[in-house]
Amino acid sequence: MKLNEIRERFIKFFTSYDHKQVPSSLLIPEHDPTLMFTNAGMVQFKNIFTGAQKTDMKRAVSSQKCLRAGGKHNDLENVGYTTRHHTFFEMLGNFSFGDYFKETAIELAWKFITEELSLNKNRLFITVYHTDDEAYEIWHKVSGFPDEKIIRIATDDNFWSMGSTGPCGPCSEIFYDHAKPNLQDDDRIVEIWNLVFMEFNKDKEGSLQKLPKKCIDTGMGLERIAAVMQNVHDNYDIDLFSALISKSQEHCGNMENKVAHKIIADHLRAAAFLIAEGILPGNEGRNYVLRRLIRRAARYIHQLGYNDSLLYRIFPILLDSSSSAYMRDVYPELARAKSLIETTLKSEEESFKDTLIKGINLLEKFTAGLKPGDTLPGESAFKLYDTYGFPLDITLDILKERRINFDQKGFDDAMEEQKERARAKWAGSGEKFVEQIWFDLTDQFGKTEFVGYEFDEVKDAKVLFIISSKTEVIGSAKEGEKITIILDKTPFYGESGGQVGDTGSLIKPDRSIIIVENTNKVNGLYLHRCIVRSGSVCKGDAVTASIDKERRQNLRRNHSATHLLHFALRKILGDHVTQKGSLVAPDGLRFDFSHNTQVTQDQLFLIEDMVNSLIRENLSTFTKIQSLNQAIDEGAMALFGEKYGDQVRVVNIGYSKELCGGTHVEHIGEIGLFKIVTECSVAFGVRRIEALTGQEAINYVRNNETNLKKVAEFVKAPASEIISRLSILSQEHKEFEAKMKNLYKKLVSAENIKSTAINGINFVSHSFTDIPASVIREFILKQQKSKTVVAFTATKGNKTVLTVKVSKDLTDKISAKELVSTVTGRGCGGNVELAQTGCDNDKTNHIITAICNEITASKN
Ligand code: ALA
Repeated sequence: MKLNEIRERFIKFFTSYDHKQVPSSLLIPEHDPTLMFTNAGMVQFKNIFTGAQKTDMKRAVSSQKCLRAGGKHNDLENVGYTTRHHTFFEMLGNFSFGDYFKETAIELAWKFITEELSLNKNRLFITVYHTDDEAYEIWHKVSGFPDEKIIRIATDDNFWSMGSTGPCGPCSEIFYDHAKPNLQDDDRIVEIWNLVFMEFNKDKEGSLQKLPKKCIDTGMGLERIAAVMQNVHDNYDIDLFSALISKSQEHCGNMENKVAHKIIADHLRAAAFLIAEGILPGNEGRNYVLRRLIRRAARYIHQLGYNDSLLYRIFPILLDSSSSAYMRDVYPELARAKSLIETTLKSEEESFKDTLIKGINLLEKFTAGLKPGDTLPGESAFKLYDTYGFPLDITLDILKERRINFDQKGFDDAMEEQKERARAKWAGSGEKFVEQIWFDLTDQFGKTEFVGYEFDEVKDAKVLFIISSKTEVIGSAKEGEKITIILDKTPFYGESGGQVGDTGSLIKPDRSIIIVENTNKVNGLYLHRCIVRSGSVCKGDAVTASIDKERRQNLRRNHSATHLLHFALRKILGDHVTQKGSLVAPDGLRFDFSHNTQVTQDQLFLIEDMVNSLIRENLSTFTKIQSLNQAIDEGAMALFGEKYGDQVRVVNIGYSKELCGGTHVEHIGEIGLFKIVTECSVAFGVRRIEALTGQEAINYVRNNETNLKKVAEFVKAPASEIISRLSILSQEHKEFEAKMKNLYKKLVSAENIKSTAINGINFVSHSFTDIPASVIREFILKQQKSKTVVAFTATKGNKTVLTVKVSKDLTDKISAKELVSTVTGRGCGGNVELAQTGCDNDKTNHIITAICNEITASKN
């Protein structure tokens, strides 16, 4: 049975038992700072298990994309060397939220594997948690197995927890015996399905609290069960991986080295899915995991003797419906991100090639002084491996050629330390948990009705809740208090999708005024962040809620312009351009997007021209609510890594079509002028454009024009001739400076410079005024007499610089640097022969005397 069919059958089986089919959540967990990646099917239901989030759903079934390549669960290093480890894999699971428990869970699992998949019962074993008599009995009854096939296990293996905190409970695992005598136990008898009887929540202190309702969470690795169904014991021999591996063999022309091909196939899938969620290679956190995946694959590609970029050439097979590696149907994000995935894989692999060359050069340096029989410290090899991404096996090859030994222990120690550091460093994703209070309030009153697409004002909004600055629900607030207000309906847009929240006012019939300073959106609630300007506000009050209309109109302009910019960027730079972030503010917009090189000035002009010509077409904009799939099929742009519902809002602005919840102009012409003001890099492979629209854009152009006029007046030339005038002036300035310098030199040499003999040392000193320090410095360097100390001060305006030179033959007794810092009491630049620092204007005489004293003292 093909892998795609197993997935389908699993979903169908459980939907026929009233389970709701829930799409896989993202690999990047939402609102969960504790997890680096989604690593199990239950992650998206965590808040339902704990009771924090209410749902009408009683049963669910999913096929969840999981990644175990960073954070607490990390199988990266094992991939390639075992038959069952993957970084990316799919987990099939059925879930009950306070509905059925152990008995039904076991019955359904048994039915699925023995009837639907027709697995041979003789090959199956069961484990249960040692104290779980109930599960033990149910299994007896359901499977008819003798005691020795239901094994009680006392370890954590049969008590599953999501992480150090979160839902957990005893579990029961189903094992399958591949019954191939030549296999090691680990490979022969494999766990295929884990049924977790969720009963507890583990808190930070590690103690277990009972969950409000008993739940079921199960997980079956799709690739593993496919191996069983396809009668192969190595997951990498299943249909999906065979197709990927053949593709990589075909390209490389190398059929050997299964390890390398396995790694390439596994890492390619993981990398492609991460990029499809908007992650780009980088040096930290999730981005670093992606980089390691691509580089680890690239190193094996190199080992196969393939000298070009390979991953992006294999990737399209995942979109090919005639191949067993086809994943597009279930995961359409792969197709949507095709161009970004291919460009990213290609460029990361290419840039790694430079690393390879750099690594070889560095290794040359590290081994420069070593002879045959010497040992390269493990740390150096580790540095090459970790900091420069240089493969250890290449290091070993080179060492072998030179008969230099390798310090494996040192390397392993350094690796262990690094892992420790990485584990300690992963302090969470920085995302915020949704606080419990917002779940509770949504439970009580449902989501806020947002009417801000149609109206700027609502006359009869009702105050449902007032929340104090300490996040407590309160009954009322008076003048001066800062509070959060939740209304039954609101025209205020809550900050989301890059668009900042609305501001405005809530006014009561008794003229009490509440100023809304910002609006956020959490769990469907619109949180008006307010201050009571006058009067008071109580729960239940009726208010007229009005947004700041002009500010909102500017937000609309900037938001619509952002869509047009996105559209133009893709047209001018290519389809790999995808949104990586945006800020839509009233006074401008910022748009971050994936692109590897600087956008040239000519390209920026083309982009600006395209946006402005679209504006001049002045088409009307419109929005449509439609199904996600239909929207995507019609070419609507969706954000990578964003979770959308079944029904989405599609905003059409001219030829641009985007999934977006923001507010927009009615006619594109309202945007007025669009003007790009900056373009820069913000992260590896991510560029940023800042732009202005409407009056702000006009003000910007006008400011530049005013400045230009001022410059023209200043240089006494018409605006059109400023550049030629300035280049003449600059040339004149250079000549003038050169003349000045000569004059200064003449002045300096004309001065009457004093020279005194102190105990056989010739002390030359002088205080110059109105001479630049640079001229003095040149002059002092010409003082070449032996047994001489020269000290010059140069005062210009309110600044004095002291420069001291000590002839070489005296430096064992006198240091210029020490002398300068002693007499001025300041730090200075320089060395024993020459030193310089700034000093107070009025102290020059005193300083010269002090130097004189120091020289006298040095002789004694
Ligand atoms: N959540 C359980 C697991 O990951 C099913 O094994």
